[in-house]
Amino acid sequence: MITLREVRKDYSTDVAIGPVDLQIPAGGITALVGPNGAGKSTLLTMMGRLLGLDAGTIEIAGYDVASTASKDLAKIVSILRQENHFITRLTVRQLVGFGRFPYSKGRLTRHDEEIVSRAIDFLDLTELEGRYLDQLSGGQRQRAYVAMVLAQDTEFVLLDEPLNNLDMKHSVQMMQHLRKAAAELGRTIVIVLHDINFAGHYADHICAVKDGRVVEFGTPEEILTDDVLTRVFDTPVRVIEGPAGPLAVYY
Ligand SMILES: Nc1ncnc2c1ncn2[C@@H]1O[C@H](COP(=O)(O)OP(=O)(O)O)[C@@H](O)[C@H]1O
Ligand SMILES: [Mg+2]
Repeated sequence: MITLREVRKDYSTDVAIGPVDLQIPAGGITALVGPNGAGKSTLLTMMGRLLGLDAGTIEIAGYDVASTASKDLAKIVSILRQENHFITRLTVRQLVGFGRFPYSKGRLTRHDEEIVSRAIDFLDLTELEGRYLDQLSGGQRQRAYVAMVLAQDTEFVLLDEPLNNLDMKHSVQMMQHLRKAAAELGRTIVIVLHDINFAGHYADHICAVKDGRVVEFGTPEEILTDDVLTRVFDTPVRVIEGPAGPLAVYY
């Protein structure tokens, strides 16, 4: 479980995120949705200990994020930022190997190499593993970063808009893979999703963020309604019954 209590980030006098009280249950996929600038990335990076809190506390599996040593937390929670994408002369395999750093400190064992290979395979990157990151398309690079996070092999996985730049096939593959990781490996996945229909179809819980506050938390059935989505996104949304469940139409 991830528990946020009275969490705040005060960027400036006119931009403040929180206070947020939120419990993200262990297991399954929780999607964070909401308009641009709502505070989704801020909340996720605070959970992933990459951004300090100005008030409140965050606990992950009982560990206080602010006071637990990074090296211990790195074995429990991994995070993909929305834009962390330092592009360097690293190959895909080298990048994914960085996911093993909390365990191997840079000297990968055979076990580490196996986990790296599996993550590369899951993300459909085997043929590209020797390529440098700056020789990849945006979508291929995005998959390489997700593979790195998965190779960290943590119980809690935080992903900020991992479907950015991905085509239909790879978006669906990634969500199916995350579902499998949640179902079979008991992972807790918190994911910022731009597309409400992906959230509706693949998430177990949806947390809607608006103006720095959590305004709704519920199942996809509870969140995918005309009323809730119109309010959260500030634009007319109609939910229809599609062939694979509810479908939000907003254009
Ligand atoms: N480092 C920062 N300094 C000042 N304001 C920031 C900073 N990062 C984000 N913000 C502001 O905080 C608000 C929430 O941003 P963010 O968490 O990135 O939203 P989202 O991910 O939902 O689009 C926005 O108004 C944004 O401009
Ligand atoms: Mg964001």
